[in-house]
Amino acid sequence: MSSHDPAQMRPRRFTANGPLRGRIRVPGDKSISHRSIMLGALAVGETRVTGLLEGEDVLSTAAAMRAMGATIERDADGMWHVHGVGVGGLLQPQAALDMGNSGTSTRLLMGLVATHPITATFVGDASLSKRPMGRVIDPLSTMGAEFTASPGGRLPLTLRGISPAVPIEYRLPVASAQVKSAILLAGLNTPGITTVIEPIPTRDHSERMLRGFGAELTVDIADDGARVIKVRGEAEFKPQDIVVPGDPSSAAFFVVAALLIEGSDLVVENVGLNPTRAALFDVLRLMGGSIEELDRRDVGGEPVADLRVRHSLLSGIDVDPAVVPSMVDEFPILFVAAALAKGRTVTTGLEELRVKESDRISAMRAALELAGATVTETEDGLIIDGTGGDPLPGTAEGASVVTHLDHRIAMSMAIAGIASKRGVEVDDTRPIATSFPVFESLLEGATR
Ligand code: S3P
Repeated sequence: MSSHDPAQMRPRRFTANGPLRGRIRVPGDKSISHRSIMLGALAVGETRVTGLLEGEDVLSTAAAMRAMGATIERDADGMWHVHGVGVGGLLQPQAALDMGNSGTSTRLLMGLVATHPITATFVGDASLSKRPMGRVIDPLSTMGAEFTASPGGRLPLTLRGISPAVPIEYRLPVASAQVKSAILLAGLNTPGITTVIEPIPTRDHSERMLRGFGAELTVDIADDGARVIKVRGEAEFKPQDIVVPGDPSSAAFFVVAALLIEGSDLVVENVGLNPTRAALFDVLRLMGGSIEELDRRDVGGEPVADLRVRHSLLSGIDVDPAVVPSMVDEFPILFVAAALAKGRTVTTGLEELRVKESDRISAMRAALELAGATVTETEDGLIIDGTGGDPLPGTAEGASVVTHLDHRIAMSMAIAGIASKRGVEVDDTRPIATSFPVFESLLEGATR
């Protein structure tokens, strides 16, 4: 999927297709799916996972864990069975680990490998090979791992792990759950206590699941409000039965679509609402969106609800930068919502979006402009003047939105397309399979 070769690209024009109605269920959470495979691969015995996201990113993680000794199989009912090697038991992979498009696989697995006595080369597609890895190389080097990276601390890179490693106390310089998780995973096979200090809270799936598998992990709040996370190394993991809740980041596309398209009344079932992930729904409600939580419950230690979403006229707002980490992946689709809102939406504090699968600030500015929206790019966000509920004009004949191998740009602009007059031409729909392989068929089903 890594090619920009026009012959292999799969362009598609997304056009208006009526309201979204009925009930849909989105696939499992990507972050939780990655972690269930990784931690299952460190437990001795069988971990069973239901609702695993079978997207390319998670399959990259599974392939890498197999290459390091775990047995990972899917049965005919869609349940995944992981037989692990035990903490400290990862084996030397015989070939480079292909991370595809997945930053989560790369950074978290770098953490795992760093404290095992093995050497691994990490490679990825054109998008992943542009993303910064220095943020994990720095702390993992302090623990004793050695790296030979491409210029700028990028892939391809080779990591020589060390055992025993040195436990560290590390204050995150960037609000990143991937960096936090890389260090905590490295701490699992390190003697003593590894500490991560998180001044700004990010998604806490690693902490929750590490505890579930039996790691000794504590979270305290420091005087300055930072979260202090400590994990004791040389843990013994007990295999788990894991139920993965639906991915709020995938639900987001359908929630926004139903808000924007007249006549819509849609229930998105089984949406994970971990507070470190769910800020988009709060922001949309502040904009006037009708999003109702039905049947709030607990699935696999994570809060979940069904969301009933009805068409609403949205109003532009200033989005509080404090919520950025809890909706970091949802800004592309929020920008689409803002493009049809009444008045101006201002976003700030989005520097991290420039180093995601693409530079999502500039990619969405260009894409929305092409679709006829009024957008201004700033250093750390976008300012969007909405249409007041009218559909966007859409892209002109022969013009297509550039997705830069970024699934969330492709899906956000697909939703912009169904909320437009002429439709939106997306240059390549292949990246969608990294996180949401059934996106297009669900979209067709919901608008039928
Ligand atoms: C993820 C963390 C986020 C997010 C990514 C998945 C995770 O990245 O953008 O899609 O599973 O930990 P950062 O933690 O680097 O912001």
